[in-house]
Amino acid sequence: MTTALNTQFGIEGQLSFREDASGLVVAEIDNTSGRASLCLQGAHLMSWQPKSQAVPVVWLSRDTKPVAGKSIRGGAPVCWPWFGAHATEAGFPGHGFARTVPWQVIESGTEPNGATRLTLRLVASDKTRVQWPHDCSVDLTVIVGETLRMEMTTNNTGTDDVVIGEALHTYFQIGDIGQVRVTGLEGCDYWDKVGGSNLRTQQGAISFSGETDRVYINSAAECVIHDDKLKRRIHVAKFGSLSTVVWTPWEEKANKMGDMGQPDGWREMVCVESANAIENVVKIAAGTRHTLIVEYRAESV
Ligand code: BG6
Repeated sequence: MTTALNTQFGIEGQLSFREDASGLVVAEIDNTSGRASLCLQGAHLMSWQPKSQAVPVVWLSRDTKPVAGKSIRGGAPVCWPWFGAHATEAGFPGHGFARTVPWQVIESGTEPNGATRLTLRLVASDKTRVQWPHDCSVDLTVIVGETLRMEMTTNNTGTDDVVIGEALHTYFQIGDIGQVRVTGLEGCDYWDKVGGSNLRTQQGAISFSGETDRVYINSAAECVIHDDKLKRRIHVAKFGSLSTVVWTPWEEKANKMGDMGQPDGWREMVCVESANAIENVVKIAAGTRHTLIVEYRAESV
């Protein structure tokens, strides 16, 4: 399988495909300005490091590995076509099925600035229709270089309008969760999912001293992760997204999860997810499309 992929989509010195020990295929990108890996299952970006940075910008748990049908812990899971728990079916997977099903490679190329582009597609199948009976395809394009851009387009190819929830659920690598602040959401309302579901308003920058699980709504703002330990700022810009999810499990929950990189991997990540969730779910009329875009860059300070 990788031979055909390498022949059709590989780019000499930039992009190649390999089969992981699990049998899943991983795309490896390494160009003059950045490197990344992406598992074809779930179109799951697993890592990204611009060459200007000594430490990766996207965090991947050391306890995770690609396994068929299971989501990878870390990277940038694609949550689609719903975010969080399914509205009515408790047995359906959290964050939708897109992150655990195979995607197809449909295009690759090099941008004028030397960045590498790769596009994957998820097409509705009998299996996905059991959980979501609509005709939609999703394209995810990643552009890897000094910055990382991801574009997720949902095409409603059917004859009915659909409503989707979605997120690029990115885990960012940080020095220590106790020493970071996230700015950009000051004054925003959020659903606080820790200890119930309460609507609150953000006062000042976000800092962390315990489990944090918040869905900020009605905000298209860029966020910045200020990391005093690694002495850098990570900029999280987005388009076509009105929700931002800020999540970190803290010790007790991380221990229960068991795949966060024991004993203290949880201290070295924070999720800042560009989403459309809760009241920001998106209605896509028949025959139209919707695109969510993120762009990340790291800056040493
Ligand atoms: C976040 C949710 O987006 O993802 C959290 O807000 C959840 O509630 C977290 O715990 C991780 O989800 P999962 O399904 O990857 O374990």
